[in-house]
Amino acid sequence: MNEIKIFSPATVANVACGFDVLGFCLDNVGDEMVIRKTSKKGVFITKIEGFDLPYETELNVAGVSALAMYEAIDVDFGFEIEIYKNIKPGSGIGSSAASAVGSVFGMNELLGKPFNKTQLTQFAIKGEALASKCEHADNLAPAIFGGFTLVKSVSPIEILEIPSPNELYATIIHPQIEIKTSEARAILPKDVSLQDAIAQWSNFGSLIHGLHTNDYGLIKRSLHDVIIEPHRSKLIHNYHDVKNSALKAGALGTCISGSGPSIFSLSKGIETAKDVEDAIKNVYSKTNIKFDTFVSKINTEGIKIIN
Ligand code: HSE
Repeated sequence: MNEIKIFSPATVANVACGFDVLGFCLDNVGDEMVIRKTSKKGVFITKIEGFDLPYETELNVAGVSALAMYEAIDVDFGFEIEIYKNIKPGSGIGSSAASAVGSVFGMNELLGKPFNKTQLTQFAIKGEALASKCEHADNLAPAIFGGFTLVKSVSPIEILEIPSPNELYATIIHPQIEIKTSEARAILPKDVSLQDAIAQWSNFGSLIHGLHTNDYGLIKRSLHDVIIEPHRSKLIHNYHDVKNSALKAGALGTCISGSGPSIFSLSKGIETAKDVEDAIKNVYSKTNIKFDTFVSKINTEGIKIIN
């Protein structure tokens, strides 16, 4: 096999109380990429459609993660990468992560799968770090593994797969404003109070337990973020109106997706998830900000090969 086409999915990071460690994978929304072996040694970005992104390999997220893998192998050929970008950069649903994992997943397949999913995540972290100025894997891991993932540690890398309750659906609203992850990280306080830390780790532990036991009530009581949301919500227009209307429509919880501006809700059942979508559409229709919304089942497969 000399060429492969892949679908690299969008993801939601943080999931309220799991800043930098928890994430889940979305269905249907994602980038497509073609990875091809080439006789010329090296890694080359040959095509980018959808958004204006750099072609220089070392300035491109997909290129940087590809180079990290390329340096770890010894081959007498190179790779070309084509990127068909659907996820808007800076949207908060793992745009850079989709690029970063796409190149290394595709190369790994063409090489006969010498690396496991955890090792792929480790290469992809280098690309993600180019975009966010920090090595974190809470979008990368769900894109690679699918479902919910917990990044136990980045160094050494350790990823845990968390079960996805079958009736759990996500509703996403993406207001068309750009928030750079690096800027959304820069506004966060360096220290947190013991009281907030206790609330956060109580919610986080309970959320993981709820996901393991299909306990939707516990998931609902755990989807709170007392540490990050108070700061970042100020960057997102009408954030609290969206959240209140989603909860009123039956969402189990609503919070910022990754570093924003997208906002995610989790609901039990697709009908409720659609009601939540209607409710939040109603809020944003009254603003002059363009937006889009979608409902997604939790994608337990993750990145995949397509024809
Ligand atoms: N955990 C990251 C953040 C995800 O919230 O900054 C965005 O890349």
